[in-house]
Amino acid sequence: MGLKEDLKALEEEVKKLIETASDIEKLNEIRINYLGKKGKIKSILKMLGKLSPEERKEIGQLANRIKDYLEESIREKTELLKKKALEEELKKNKIDLSLPSHWIESGSSHPVISTLIEISQTFISMGFSVAEGPEVEKEKYNFDMLNIPPDHPARDMQDTFFLNNGDILRTHTSPVQIRTMLRYKPPVAIIAPGRVYRKDADPTHSPMFHQIEGLLVDRDVTFRDLKGILKIFLESIFGQDVKIRFRPSYFPFTEPSAEVDIGCTVCGGKGCRVCKGTGWLEILGCGMVDPEVFKAVDIDPEEYTGFAFGLGIERIAMLKYRITDIRLLFTGDMRFNQQFKGIR
Ligand code: PHE
Repeated sequence: MGLKEDLKALEEEVKKLIETASDIEKLNEIRINYLGKKGKIKSILKMLGKLSPEERKEIGQLANRIKDYLEESIREKTELLKKKALEEELKKNKIDLSLPSHWIESGSSHPVISTLIEISQTFISMGFSVAEGPEVEKEKYNFDMLNIPPDHPARDMQDTFFLNNGDILRTHTSPVQIRTMLRYKPPVAIIAPGRVYRKDADPTHSPMFHQIEGLLVDRDVTFRDLKGILKIFLESIFGQDVKIRFRPSYFPFTEPSAEVDIGCTVCGGKGCRVCKGTGWLEILGCGMVDPEVFKAVDIDPEEYTGFAFGLGIERIAMLKYRITDIRLLFTGDMRFNQQFKGIR
């Protein structure tokens, strides 16, 4: 057989190999074995030297044509196999772009917390610091030193949770007044936000709720200062047009004492169910620090005066956001909570 036939036979052989090759590695092998530097076509071309110039030209051209053709075939087949592999891969990891994606919920502040933060910031902007005290409290701090002796009727005003060791759950944030004055000499200006506990449960009372206490002690502090600060505070929360009224009241730890009302935010003062027809809403208790309290913490009432106030955060939040049942604030119902997204 001549070289020409050899080449033709080789071409057929390689064509078949390419056709049946099922992966890219196999194709590479074919390229190396037949078309590479030590490949079969090369070894045929090496024998060209022994041929006549005419034959050399003819066989050389044929060999090159076959070589080009086979190279192109291998390239085509490689592309085809790559495409197939990709298609298979896509089929395996099928992604349905029309499926709805997971919705990542963003969190937000609970209305009680956003109200707490808003109130705190108003006082912080006026120079008050934030103080804290424990929720498990001594009767001494919660009652006695606040001028509420053991048989005082005011103890009944706040139905107390008692612990086995004689401690209590604080019924108000006022014990933080005592703790602050025991620790720091005047002048002091603090607010004390936190949880308080009372045996009470109905649509407007929860056994756990939040208060913010305020205390300012210095020389020459007057009731006028108290009124001014509370006015600024209430206007910042309820708007510049809020109506404010001070009503004489009684707390054992302040003298004189007052309760502050604001014009009803629901009816605007006409009288409705929320304000029980009065047009006013009770919003906080306050007064001038009683000299007996100063004596208990060893501050001279002749030298210093001060004011204190306490307010319920849930009550403010309920008025601000027109919530009619306090229990909604504590049940954790997402349908309720999600209505406050974006408030803060
Ligand atoms: N501690 C009182 C209460 O819980 C509120 C109050 C605080 C009143 C400070 C006067 C001064 O009702």
